Amino acid sequence: MTSARIRFATDILRRLGEELNPSIDKGILELVKNSYDADAINCTVELTNVHAQGGSVTIRDDGLGMAATDIKEGWLVLGRSSKDPAQRTDLGRFPAGSKGLGRLAALRMGRRAMLTTRPVTEKDAEHNLLIDWDAFSHTSLVEDVELAIETSSRSPKTTRGTEIRIEDLRQPITSRQVHRLAREILMLAGPFGEDTTGFKPRLIAPEFTDMERLVSAKYFSEADYHLVAKIDSDGRGNAEVLDWRGAVLFSANHEELSGSHKVPFKCPPLTFDLWHYILGATNFSTKKVEYRGVKAWIRSFGGVHIYQNGLRVTPYGDPGNDWLDMNLSRSRSPEERPSTNNSIGRVLLSDPGQLLVQKTDRSGFLETDSFLEIRAFAQAALDWMAHRRLHEAEQRREKARSEAPQQTAASKISLDHAVSKLPPSQREPIKKAVAQAWSSVDKEINPLASHRLRHGHAEER
Ligand SMILES: Nc1ncnc2c1ncn2[C@@H]1O[C@H](COP(=O)(O)OP(=O)(O)OP(=O)(O)O)[C@@H](O)[C@H]1O
Ligand SMILES: [Mg+2]
Repeated sequence: MTSARIRFATDILRRLGEELNPSIDKGILELVKNSYDADAINCTVELTNVHAQGGSVTIRDDGLGMAATDIKEGWLVLGRSSKDPAQRTDLGRFPAGSKGLGRLAALRMGRRAMLTTRPVTEKDAEHNLLIDWDAFSHTSLVEDVELAIETSSRSPKTTRGTEIRIEDLRQPITSRQVHRLAREILMLAGPFGEDTTGFKPRLIAPEFTDMERLVSAKYFSEADYHLVAKIDSDGRGNAEVLDWRGAVLFSANHEELSGSHKVPFKCPPLTFDLWHYILGATNFSTKKVEYRGVKAWIRSFGGVHIYQNGLRVTPYGDPGNDWLDMNLSRSRSPEERPSTNNSIGRVLLSDPGQLLVQKTDRSGFLETDSFLEIRAFAQAALDWMAHRRLHEAEQRREKARSEAPQQTAASKISLDHAVSKLPPSQREPIKKAVAQAWSSVDKEINPLASHRLRHGHAEER
């Protein structure tokens, strides 16, 4: 008998790293999420000379850090995670990670990756580990490369946390990618101001500062319509539409939202908010905020984002991503419908245990029944809102139409009255002129209304 093992060629690192997660910003974002999982409050991403080859990216956090065994048995083991998605961390967060692969793409962006970590469990230790990827290209199997964890003592003043430096970048990072990264970091825990765990990730770059200023404007209360649609823990839906003062315009129960099937929605409890802005300059002239400000805000943060247990899941709500087909529905019936260009929204999913599973290439959720149910619910809520708003607009128009003849009739009466008060010599020519004028008015208003008017039905409506 010859004993044998399955072994991994070094090429697997490239396939599981850069080929599985090809965009630089998504790779860095995975490291930021790891800081979140490690209960960090602060996490900064610093880019140094990244617009040319050979630059570096540093991610620093003040999280739990790693002991030497955590590095050996966790950080250096690919494809397995010690995280339990159903178990809250000390800060009450549900971990974002579950696959044990997230760090790889980012670490491989450079020729070397340097890890420095100060674990909360060892008050005076600091561990350093350098991974030189070139060493892997000179060998054929992953386990043939020896790595060394260097432990040194740390001064009592230094705080816990982890620093990861990706050195000697293989590709430059473009301005567009920096811009995208700024947006993703800013939106990760939400511009909606509801993160209760206090996570504050930052990108040290002017792009981030600009966006941060814009996001803090928070134009939510300026929206013309605010849709709030919820699914409770029994799978029952309900929805409301509020106007810009917060008054309820319409509300719907489960039966109205679930269409013909009426059964509970089979997905985790959620809240779907959508703020819709009527971006005509005339509408905004009556409000105190600046039209241009709102437009810029929507351009940067618009779309419908999904947050699973408090963290945003890409690509929902990214520029060009319209997972609810809002733009298509709007082009079919543009009246009273939001599009990704005039609205901002988010679906907050409370999903401990991760019923919704993210794809390994980080391109969104697997399209399971649960995910499809969420999409169907959100679309049903949008359809319901459009239907109610169209109905209301129709009623408004109808009212205006029916009031026009009434007003005309009232004017006729008061004019007749005034004419009757004239001296008899003036009365006749003026009566004639008035009759002529009314006859042209009658021709101008629609035939149905003038018919009603002639037959004295104006008061019926
Ligand atoms: N900043 C950090 N602080 C403390 N531990 C960390 C940090 N970054 C990574 N780790 C450890 O390294 C492991 C590997 O991270 P990685 O992102 O690859 O996998 P994961 O987060 O477990 O799962 P996923 O692939 O879904 O992100 C983590 O499980 C965690 O134990
Ligand atoms: Mg991770």
